[in-house]
Amino acid sequence: MQGAKNSTLPILAATILCGDECVIHNCPCLSDIDASMRILRYLGCSVSRSGHTLVVDTSSMNGDSIPDSLMREMRSSIIFMGAVLARCGRVKLSLPGGCDIGPRPIDLHLDALSKMGAEIREGHGEIVCTAPKGLTGASVALSFPSVGATENIMIAAALSKGTTTITNAAREPEIEDLADFLNKCGALVHCAGEGTVVIEGVRELHGTAHNVIPDRIVTATLMSCCAVTGADITLRDVIPAHLGAIIPVFEEMGCDVKVKEGVMRICAPARLRALKLVRTNPYPGFPTDAQAPLMAAMTVSRGTSVFIETIFESRYKHIGEFLRMGAKVKTEGRVAVVEGVKELYGSSLCAMDLRGSAALVVASLAAQGETIIDTTKYLERGYEDFDVMLTSLGAEIKKI
Ligand code: EPZ
Repeated sequence: MQGAKNSTLPILAATILCGDECVIHNCPCLSDIDASMRILRYLGCSVSRSGHTLVVDTSSMNGDSIPDSLMREMRSSIIFMGAVLARCGRVKLSLPGGCDIGPRPIDLHLDALSKMGAEIREGHGEIVCTAPKGLTGASVALSFPSVGATENIMIAAALSKGTTTITNAAREPEIEDLADFLNKCGALVHCAGEGTVVIEGVRELHGTAHNVIPDRIVTATLMSCCAVTGADITLRDVIPAHLGAIIPVFEEMGCDVKVKEGVMRICAPARLRALKLVRTNPYPGFPTDAQAPLMAAMTVSRGTSVFIETIFESRYKHIGEFLRMGAKVKTEGRVAVVEGVKELYGSSLCAMDLRGSAALVVASLAAQGETIIDTTKYLERGYEDFDVMLTSLGAEIKKI
């Protein structure tokens, strides 16, 4: 299983705190990771890749500004805010880009940094944060357990004076992975993965080696590929504890899922059963990132499934494309009702965001005839060699 994109990105930003060499293993080859490497290089750091290992040396870092063109490449560029501010006492950047899945404000990030003593000036799309005497620990209560805000605060707090407490923190496995990395560098981050995270600031951090956790969303996507084709597949290097809300959903659909020593065998029935209700929620709830691939599988199930997307406002763009394939789906705001059909038919489709693209691939595996999906650029943000992986599982798929 490829390493988790959403762990690798904050860890790469956090290497800035070390001013030293870090060796990060199991980094997937993705365009979002390339974008992070470009930001690090722009800031004067040296980054090299050998297979799935990245060697990042941030001792030569000499910049504290990130240009708009690099910020726009992905949402995760915002995690550099806490890291550069903590290291340099100043950071200048613009609002981040990323997939268009609804408004993605950064108010929680900015409020927290300001509580930690940063002075923030915003205007004309530009943000300048300064803390010439360094940041100080603070109590931060998040109104929503934002993944990115929790990561930014943890990173900024690692080198601040005093203790920072984050309540209602995000509990995603990627948060724990970031904490593991920071602690290996000499940070004191406690209880990451729980609702309250405590970070005791230290004076400096050092380099380390770290192995990124497997990607639970790629796992869920491959499980959807298996489910939709009635297949029997084996996935290696999975952490079942990270799939606590995912495995039961596939079992409810009629799949047999067994995991032993990091190896998952999933065996799908000839026709899936519909799901009563899938409601996306912050971890440990069902992940919003797996909603689209799962919905693709449900389009050919027996019965009617209901989805409620609670995290992002516009995460149903794949539905319009499913309709072109003969699926029956109705939406009303954040609710989608999927009436399973016997079969889908191949069509010409347009990919519009990362997980939506993966969902189109899942649906096309079940469709009669050929499907053409225009643009792989979103898919390449999060899935390494997806075509090669699916070919090895028996799919007929070609990247043109
Ligand atoms: C992370 O995005 C992931 N990205 C997303 O994965 C994932 O969908 C999301 O968490 C939720 O799990 C990375 O880790 C790089 P949030 P992030 O801050 O950090 C609102 C994928 O497909 N909010 O938890 O941006 C926000 O509008 C991607 O791999 C505020 O209101 O997510 C949203 O409704 C896409 N103010 C909700 O919180 C803020 O300051 C969740 O956002 C921050 C967030």
